[in-house]
Amino acid sequence: MTVLSTAQTAAAEPTGVRIRSLHRNDGHVLDRIMAGMSSRSRYQRFHWQKPHLTESDRRFLTDVDGRDHIALVAFDGSGDPLGVARAIRHKTDARSAEVAAAVVDASQRRGLGMDLVARLARKAAGAGIERFVAHVLAESGLSAALVRHGWHVAGREGTVNMLEAPVWRLAAG
Ligand SMILES: CC(C)(COP(=O)(O)OP(=O)(O)OC[C@H]1O[C@@H](n2cnc3c(N)ncnc32)[C@H](O)[C@@H]1OP(=O)(O)O)[C@@H](O)C(=O)NCCC(=O)NCCS
Repeated sequence: MTVLSTAQTAAAEPTGVRIRSLHRNDGHVLDRIMAGMSSRSRYQRFHWQKPHLTESDRRFLTDVDGRDHIALVAFDGSGDPLGVARAIRHKTDARSAEVAAAVVDASQRRGLGMDLVARLARKAAGAGIERFVAHVLAESGLSAALVRHGWHVAGREGTVNMLEAPVWRLAAG
């Protein structure tokens, strides 16, 4: 588990944040992150009004192997989960992976999401992944923020923007 000192964290990021790889038995951790997200945040993450994770969601989201499915989870100093980011390698293009992230509402916009993605990018680069792809609701304003952080809009599918970024650029943080 990585322990971030105050000096290593972004200025506004919660102090004492610990980040580690998600484990296969972390389903309850994902439930707690879901519980800390508003219905709006859950909608932005899953693109529909998902109230909670099902058993099958938990199985899929914890089916990590550190290579084709890499996930990192962040905790505060008390051990409460703050957020998760994952990359799942595309079956049709082994050099690219689909990225998704979720941070509990109380800890959003404090730099944690980008920190998780940067760390994820470093791990993904080590597994031979060169490009991250993310699908983001066009209405959310998140696309514009991601473009400011090194992503570009590669296409649009209905109400969803498809964004891409080279892993090396995200890994630089
Ligand atoms: C998207 C998410 C993971 C970002 O995590 P975070 O910790 O809030 O992100 P950061 O604090 O690192 O912010 C990074 C940038 O994104 C912006 N941002 C974050 N959430 C945003 C939102 N919902 N709409 C518009 N911009 C947003 C921040 O303002 C910041 O931009 P800036 O640096 O140019 O000011 C988090 O907001 C979240 O869980 N949202 C709900 C789920 C979701 O939308 N997931 C993404 C699709 S898979």
